[in-house]
Amino acid sequence: MILSTELEHKGNLYPSKIISYRKDVDTLYFTTENFVVLQVTVRRDSVLRFRYSTKTIFDKDFSYAITKYASRGFNHLEITDDDEHYIITTSKLICKIAKEDLRKSIYDAKDGKLICEDELGFHWEESYEFGGDIVKMSKVSQDSEAYYGLGDKPVHVNLKGKRFENWVTDSYAYGRDSDPIYKSIPFYIGLHHTKSYGIFFDNTFRSFFDFCAERRNITSYWAEGGEMNYYFIYGPDMADVVASYTDLTGKPHQLPPLWALGYHQCKWSYYPESNVKAITNKFRELKIPCDAIYLDIDYMEGFRCFTWNKEYFPDPKRMVKELLDDGFKTIAIIDPGIKIDLDYPVFKEALDKDYFCKRADGPYMKGKVWPGECYFPDFTDPEVREWWSGLFKELIEDIGVRGVWNDMNEPAVMDVPGKTFPDDVRHNYEGLRCSHRKAHNIYGMQMARATYQGLKKFSYPKRPFVITRAAYSGTQRYSSTWTGDNVATWDHLNIANIPAQRSSMSGYSFVGSDIGGFAEQPNGELYARWIQLGVFHPFFRTHSSGDHGDQEPWAFGKNITDIVRKFIEIRYQLLPYLYTSFWRYVEEGIPILKSLVLFDQADPHTHYRNDEFIFGEKILACPIAEPNAKGRRMYFPIGEWYNFWTNELIEGGQEFWVDADLDSMPIFVKAGAIIPKYPIQQYVGEKEIIELGLDVYYKNGKETSQVYEDAQDGYDYKKGRFSLRNFKLIGKKKSVTIQQFKSGKFFTPYKTFKIKLNGLPFEIDKIEVDHEVTDFAKVKINGDNTLIVNKEFTKLTIFGK
Ligand code: GLC
Repeated sequence: MILSTELEHKGNLYPSKIISYRKDVDTLYFTTENFVVLQVTVRRDSVLRFRYSTKTIFDKDFSYAITKYASRGFNHLEITDDDEHYIITTSKLICKIAKEDLRKSIYDAKDGKLICEDELGFHWEESYEFGGDIVKMSKVSQDSEAYYGLGDKPVHVNLKGKRFENWVTDSYAYGRDSDPIYKSIPFYIGLHHTKSYGIFFDNTFRSFFDFCAERRNITSYWAEGGEMNYYFIYGPDMADVVASYTDLTGKPHQLPPLWALGYHQCKWSYYPESNVKAITNKFRELKIPCDAIYLDIDYMEGFRCFTWNKEYFPDPKRMVKELLDDGFKTIAIIDPGIKIDLDYPVFKEALDKDYFCKRADGPYMKGKVWPGECYFPDFTDPEVREWWSGLFKELIEDIGVRGVWNDMNEPAVMDVPGKTFPDDVRHNYEGLRCSHRKAHNIYGMQMARATYQGLKKFSYPKRPFVITRAAYSGTQRYSSTWTGDNVATWDHLNIANIPAQRSSMSGYSFVGSDIGGFAEQPNGELYARWIQLGVFHPFFRTHSSGDHGDQEPWAFGKNITDIVRKFIEIRYQLLPYLYTSFWRYVEEGIPILKSLVLFDQADPHTHYRNDEFIFGEKILACPIAEPNAKGRRMYFPIGEWYNFWTNELIEGGQEFWVDADLDSMPIFVKAGAIIPKYPIQQYVGEKEIIELGLDVYYKNGKETSQVYEDAQDGYDYKKGRFSLRNFKLIGKKKSVTIQQFKSGKFFTPYKTFKIKLNGLPFEIDKIEVDHEVTDFAKVKINGDNTLIVNKEFTKLTIFGK
């Protein structure tokens, strides 16, 4: 039982026996003798929503997390009862609700196996201090059950044995096990007996999750207010659980522009203009690809948002254009704190229009941030969001800034206990007025949303790019994110790997870390190893606080510069591969990074693997995260894997030592994969793609691969102007066949594929393109098993001697 969380006033209260039951289309209501109502909504055959009231009526149903685009509908719904239970049956689930005490147990409808069962189930404590309830749920942890998810917790991928808090917090130089940090994603995944389910506790108050920490076989979660309101999401595949959760809380509203998947360079701060230019020029001079340059807080006049320091940046529009001409997209930071200054139009307007947050008794919420004393817009008010989005006109439409970085939006307040607003601050919350206790965890999300709306409007017809530090479930619809103020240590390189995987399995794939560490300074070796990991993170940015020296790719000597360049070049070659994974994420909610457990949950060896992960569908990567390493041991998931560097084939399901000097890293490609590649470019769009590389990895068997492409920006792809190639590889002892199925109306600029055949177990005898034997001269064999083939082929067969 969760111990008393407030005053031991009445202690825990429990539902009593069910006295009535009613059904309304897809929703069932069970009322107990002591006025508890359990509302069960069948959202999909595999998704049930449970909502409890302790006062017979429910508050207005509202959630910032759930998207209106979430799929709904089911194939089957049947309600029956026996002496002890009401029984809800869908095509995927059976949910039994005990008549005696409202406790539930959920089973797989196919094989009848138990998936999840209440222990005490729902219980609550009345809150003397704030009114309402402290709502609680406890469940039995099944034999050898493992737990994953929860957003950005910097702990082992498997959460078992630990307790966590969800309260978004500015966490400068956080460390391993720090909790809470910047995000609140109250979603976890349970896995036992090879079956997986998810629980999304959609409650924005401060909440807690205990995975068998307090009691060995009990998992519980509770919140300091609001409703016990959660979604049960069944798999049994973990990838389906994540996809369903992402469907529920939203996929990104559009693909990012392709350049946003390139390399980004950031520092606190690059100024004045001459310094910004010196940095960008150096990238071009040293031929290190880079697509984005950041302006941290010093570009502003006295840290006033939406202003420029004219001494440092006399003509921002000209500068931004010159940068763009050289391939650099400018990204500017915007924080929520608005400096108290009556001569500052943004402040004056928000004051006049009553847009700032207020304390319970009427005064403004005043707090210190970078500009000194500030007031803070109430982003939970739709009118305020509309106003805020309009403020981006000049920055985006007129000046040409291409992305906005929202920071300090926990909201962070300096020099106060708790580092944020006091509990009594009032919020509009879409007209459902409430205190900061309820709005805190979504404040940053709503700021990112308002920023996103501004960028969407003023970047049009280009796609918006936003990055946020604070987030609640669903923020992935609007913005990318990073893991906050980390430190330049080897341990932090390890930590960076985990929240990125965790975030991805929590619906938030567009994630990365401050490469090299934000606080303190890395040495060249640490920086190079971190860049290597960053290549395999969807968001790829170096950032540092700057007070500990330089952190650009050339800051650590030529040897490191060369290694960093080589890896950034790999990233640029892999852009069509990453873009395809991103498209799958946006279309289907499939996470871009997959912890090994998500890749193969049936293999128990994967359940505790932290370091190795799958990037996209076909690439296995594992960072080297200790100094002086010449390689490392790592686990290979079941299947066959080609060493990216040597093409050596490895049979998975076991651990191996992998050599990886500083200029290398363990990277493997799944046998049967077809990996699309672009040429190395200094920035996206530098070159017209005149040939698409397809690296084919032989397999004796079948494997499918995809390549998604479009105009790399804009919205035409939503009207069908995309190119999707589905490849099917069929490998036999003496042949390999590749079939191509193409859809979409986008014409890729290239005419040919450069097909590189890796791991062929035979010498080529004959090549057939669309059933016609083609002479070698025509397909241009390059001597290294590289063929140039027309992109329109539907079937290519290579026969061995
Ligand atoms: C916060 C951010 C960091 C930024 C700094 C100054 O610490 O997390 O990324 O550089 O503020 O704006």
